[in-house]
Amino acid sequence: MLEESGIAAAVRLPGQTKSSPEAQPKPVASSSTAFRTSRNRWSSPSPLRSFLSAAALVLVVALVQLILHDAKLQRLQVLRSHLIHSSSSSSVSSRSSFFFPLHPHFPPGPPIASPVAHFDDPDAVCLNPASFPSTQPTSIPLTTMALADDTKRVVDQFEFTDADVNAHVQEFLKQMNEGLAKDGTSLSQIPTYVTAVPNGTEKGLYLAVDLGGTNFRVCSIMLNGDHTFNLTYNKVAIPKELMVAKTSEELFAFLAKQIELFLREHHADRFESHVHRRHTGSDRRGYTEEQIFRLGFTFSFPVQQLGINKGKLMRWTKGFDIPDTVGKDVCALLQNEIDKLHLPVKVAALVNDTVGTLMARSYTSSGKHRSILGAIFGTGTNGAYIEKVENIKKKIEGEYDTSTGEMVINTEWGSFDNQGNVLHSTPWDKQLDRESVNPGFQMFEKCVSGMFLGEILRLATLDMMKSPESTLFKDTNSSTNDWATTTNVAAHSGLHRQWGLDSAIMSVAAADNTPELSTLRQELENTLHIYNPSLEDAQAFKSVAAAVGRRAARLSAVAIGAIVIQSGKLNDPKEDIIDIGVDGSLVEHYPFFRDMIHEALAAVTEIGTQGADKIRIGVAKDGSGVGAALIALVAAKMEKPGDFMREMRKDIKRQLDSLPAVADDSRINPAVAIGGVIGLAAIAALWWNKKR
Ligand code: GLC
Repeated sequence: MLEESGIAAAVRLPGQTKSSPEAQPKPVASSSTAFRTSRNRWSSPSPLRSFLSAAALVLVVALVQLILHDAKLQRLQVLRSHLIHSSSSSSVSSRSSFFFPLHPHFPPGPPIASPVAHFDDPDAVCLNPASFPSTQPTSIPLTTMALADDTKRVVDQFEFTDADVNAHVQEFLKQMNEGLAKDGTSLSQIPTYVTAVPNGTEKGLYLAVDLGGTNFRVCSIMLNGDHTFNLTYNKVAIPKELMVAKTSEELFAFLAKQIELFLREHHADRFESHVHRRHTGSDRRGYTEEQIFRLGFTFSFPVQQLGINKGKLMRWTKGFDIPDTVGKDVCALLQNEIDKLHLPVKVAALVNDTVGTLMARSYTSSGKHRSILGAIFGTGTNGAYIEKVENIKKKIEGEYDTSTGEMVINTEWGSFDNQGNVLHSTPWDKQLDRESVNPGFQMFEKCVSGMFLGEILRLATLDMMKSPESTLFKDTNSSTNDWATTTNVAAHSGLHRQWGLDSAIMSVAAADNTPELSTLRQELENTLHIYNPSLEDAQAFKSVAAAVGRRAARLSAVAIGAIVIQSGKLNDPKEDIIDIGVDGSLVEHYPFFRDMIHEALAAVTEIGTQGADKIRIGVAKDGSGVGAALIALVAAKMEKPGDFMREMRKDIKRQLDSLPAVADDSRINPAVAIGGVIGLAAIAALWWNKKR
């Protein structure tokens, strides 16, 4: 039947053609001259010529079809050998029932007879396949159970039981108290010099900058004095090369430049009038304290704080590595670069983002309950809480307000149990640590925070893909795929690159509860270039991602639970709510992260379900910006009249003194004079030589 059709004739091999010998194709001209010649020759058409040209056309079409057909045939051959290979490995059930209508070529219905050769006949040559698959999907034995087993093998290693939660809480409390007693312990327990939290009535316009991880934010915050604020900000990604720059100056000059751009854009009036005063030399007349912005510097790395706007970097975290900065006062580094640009800005306070979060939460909550803890679960993780000064046994350098008897402590809990007393690591945690810029440090953070979760998931997934027992992303399901929908992982997929898997996909995986996991499968394609993953692939990926995420949430509960116990508020009948402010991408975007924390908190013996019900975890959006502004305000209030200008003048003098002495223009520099004479003599010698 098909043989009679024109299409069938067109796809016949040249040797099989029924056309006349004159209809052989002419060589195809490739240059424009040849094209003109051939056109002239055929310019007066006769019936024979018309017939021959039509036949030639048919043959050209036939050849093209043949080439295309051949290419498809080859792909089918590859697919066939792949299927024969996979069907001979261990097997359990067909995955065809899991398919969702990504494949419109496979409508359900009775099988249609087809001339397509069967894959199990090795000698069959498929010369004329239909342009669409015409058989029902067959049940190719697959290894779904092997994938399920392998997934379980991986998932089990992330198990974090209630007993684990309790053991970790006890160890956390122990390490907290060690950190309060002396320096150099795993939990740094850094005194912040912040001795009170705001009550929401604070007012004023402040600047804040936030260097925390991936981005740098510059904001101005108007505190309205009624628990509300208005915030304007610019955000830029920190260039990767600056995170590992050779000198501190490179990074801090970039930060100062961003402050300048922000002021020009959002506070042009104040900025321009400042520039004008400088240009007209009217500095001394018009330079008043009110015209200078106080800036709160949120610097979210471990810093040995020496005062409200002074602190030395202890070590970098979150992928930063600029050895030159360690041990230096980061406020002075920023102020120097600001001064080089002559900006009307004074770094007034140095703040960790967790302290900022605690401040912001206290400012915005209008109830009678003040927050006891500010915590970040984002790129990194950390917490700052209110501690009784009498519990801080190590020496607190410098001055601070003693009236409240309390001080905010920055725990730097990312380093909890660096020594590995309780934290147990999976092989993928160990690999991640080995390949990180700070092996052996931030061990808790490496299991909990957004920067690392994606990498753990990547390493575990890659391991599964490499395992011969596992079928993950191996297209064992292609019995129901045509060649165009074969599962494959692109060579450039992020799966093959360190940090190539963004943790954000874990939120997508957790949120996708559709029967076909279509959103997640789409995301695997879009972000990881894993094309046409099967439902089982997506299910396996989702399970591993969930295990990594759940362990992170339960570990987060360890830190929160220990601090709640340390606060002593659990058994205080006056405290019906224990408020905690949190911020960061995990708490904001990972579905059920807070629920999982709550569930684990209830499993802590000292807390229980009743205690867990008292704990309120609320998001403090933009905490680091608002918090920094609030601390800058406190710092400004602590200044004595005239302090600010005095300090400013001291800074200017220090800068002037550090400038190299400038030679008097009116006298000739001897070096220049000698150089000039020698130069002239050389020219004269050349000229004289040439002349002779
Ligand atoms: C890292 C930093 C810490 C910060 C946290 C959250 O752990 O060391 O200072 O608070 O990330 O950003």
